[in-house]
Amino acid sequence: MHDVIAKQAVAKSFSDAAKDYDTFARFQHQLAKRLLAMCPQTNKQSILDLGCGTGYCLPLLNQHYDNATLTGADIAPGMLDVAKQAYPKFHFCVADAENLPFENEQFDLIFSNLAVQWCDDFSQVLKQAYACLKPGGHLVLSTLADGTLDELKQAWSTVDQHQHVNQFDDEHDLKFMIESSGFTIQQCDIATLYDFHSDVRGLTDSLKRIGAHNITDGRAKGLTSPQKVKQFMQAMESFRQDAGLPASYRVLSCCLVKPN
Ligand SMILES: C[S@@+](CC[C@H](N)C(=O)[O-])C[C@H]1O[C@@H](n2cnc3c(N)ncnc32)[C@H](O)[C@@H]1O
Repeated sequence: MHDVIAKQAVAKSFSDAAKDYDTFARFQHQLAKRLLAMCPQTNKQSILDLGCGTGYCLPLLNQHYDNATLTGADIAPGMLDVAKQAYPKFHFCVADAENLPFENEQFDLIFSNLAVQWCDDFSQVLKQAYACLKPGGHLVLSTLADGTLDELKQAWSTVDQHQHVNQFDDEHDLKFMIESSGFTIQQCDIATLYDFHSDVRGLTDSLKRIGAHNITDGRAKGLTSPQKVKQFMQAMESFRQDAGLPASYRVLSCCLVKPN
């Protein structure tokens, strides 16, 4: 389990980042395409993109399911403003994945790419999605597990004792919650994927510019001294590979179905 997540802070952070999000979300976009490949081939009429951000996945889902009604939901109003402007033909709604404002059995498919790691309780997300899906409906979701951004965590641990990286659930806990959710598991994979950057600034900036700020209670509250930043940057260099400096992501992707 992690600290209780300050939802207002998450919403503000992503709203503030909304305008530039797509420029810096290379990794999130790659993951979205990978997750789309896990979607069922069967016809779907009513689809929710949960944590839709700027709406990047909506036209892709629309291509996949050309007659479907698509709704994007997100906790960050600023993200939805950008999404609405880009894709006026879809529906949008401010919503918290842990407390969905939809009717029971409304959707045939709930799709969610890299959003619910910002929630307190993954089992509550599964419960809410289960209630909003029709029997036979699918939940296709990706989230992050512990091990994500380990290079940053390790490099900072050589500098100070503050928590510089958000906490993520243990992958065994995530799997257990899926197994206990009532869904039938059609596919569930866990893999470490890498996003490479040419330098440390590029890596840390890309996290900030998509709105993925450190919201842990243990974070350093004041400014970090230039000396500490220099130490951190040096420690990061020990992870350099031919492709550049890696940011690792421990990604759980799953395709679940609500039994008929
Ligand atoms: C990394 S972005 C992913 C956006 C989009 N799914 C994509 O693939 O580009 C994470 C999104 O999750 C949203 N989010 C965070 N916590 C949420 C919650 N509790 N309920 C709904 N959305 C949430 C954020 O506002 C942000 O737009």
